[in-house]
Amino acid sequence: MALVTGGTRGIGAAICQQLAADGAEIAAGYWRDRESAEKFAASIAAEYPGRRITLHEGNIGEAADCRRVLREVIEQHGRLDILVNNAGIAIDRTVAKMTDEDWNKVIAVNLSGAFFMAQAAAEHMIERGTGRIINVSSVIGETGNVGQANYAASKSGLFGLAKTLAKEAVFQLSRAQRPVGDGVGLTVNAVTPGFIATDMLSTIPGKVLDLIRAQIPVARLGRPEEIARVVGFLAADESTWPPPWCARRSAGRAWTRTRWVTRSSAT
Ligand code: NAI
Repeated sequence: MALVTGGTRGIGAAICQQLAADGAEIAAGYWRDRESAEKFAASIAAEYPGRRITLHEGNIGEAADCRRVLREVIEQHGRLDILVNNAGIAIDRTVAKMTDEDWNKVIAVNLSGAFFMAQAAAEHMIERGTGRIINVSSVIGETGNVGQANYAASKSGLFGLAKTLAKEAVFQLSRAQRPVGDGVGLTVNAVTPGFIATDMLSTIPGKVLDLIRAQIPVARLGRPEEIARVVGFLAADESTWPPPWCARRSAGRAWTRTRWVTRSSAT
């Protein structure tokens, strides 16, 4: 059973599709556009007849909404196995021109929202001894980018959050005297996509997109499904390694030269 924030379009929708294809019940978070969310839910329900799919409206930029959505999902599905912190926004301006509001909004949705969702999910997962939390970060969190101080800082923050959650999960599980076996376990990861063709890039001028494409070895933007496959891999019961004593970040270009995966994991 998986909850994907911002799960009804772009990368989030592809992640829901992937996890549904892998057999999960789906809870898709969304904000504001109910009609599109309902269309998306209907398309998944048609593809997987009998599969449970629910929609949860909430502003991930508000702690109370995050907690309410989490509660609602667990009440309706009886449990939560996988949390994907995917919801995100960008408000791009150079540091000199960035307003307090630009900074606070992006940090609230991209970083604080992921924290409040993970905080509530981790409690439930530690109680059960199993779970998957996956933060959708960005390559910009690794490299920084002109005009994206707020976005880059929020996405870098997701690495520290994932690593800390993983370490705390190990600590809490051992304190609860649960043996760290080779089972499903509890893992926390961050994936760091490169440039992916979604609405998020719609404000980037065509010429800039051409320059971006020219720097990508396969000369095209990534597709949401390509990130969803990585998330599907990390969300699988079998993806339990490395064990807690290896909890770490290993950043390297994985799968293709445009996609980065950062992993910190606790079994
Ligand atoms: P998108 O704009 O299509 O999707 C963003 C999702 O977040 C939407 O479903 C939106 O409703 C949701 N959202 C935004 N504000 C929200 C709020 N306050 N409360 C609840 N939900 C909210 O863009 P895309 O590309 O699918 O982005 C998904 C994630 O992937 C984001 O975290 C983004 O930063 C990340 N990403 C995207 C890349 C790209 O090139 N498109 C590259 C690297 C990371």
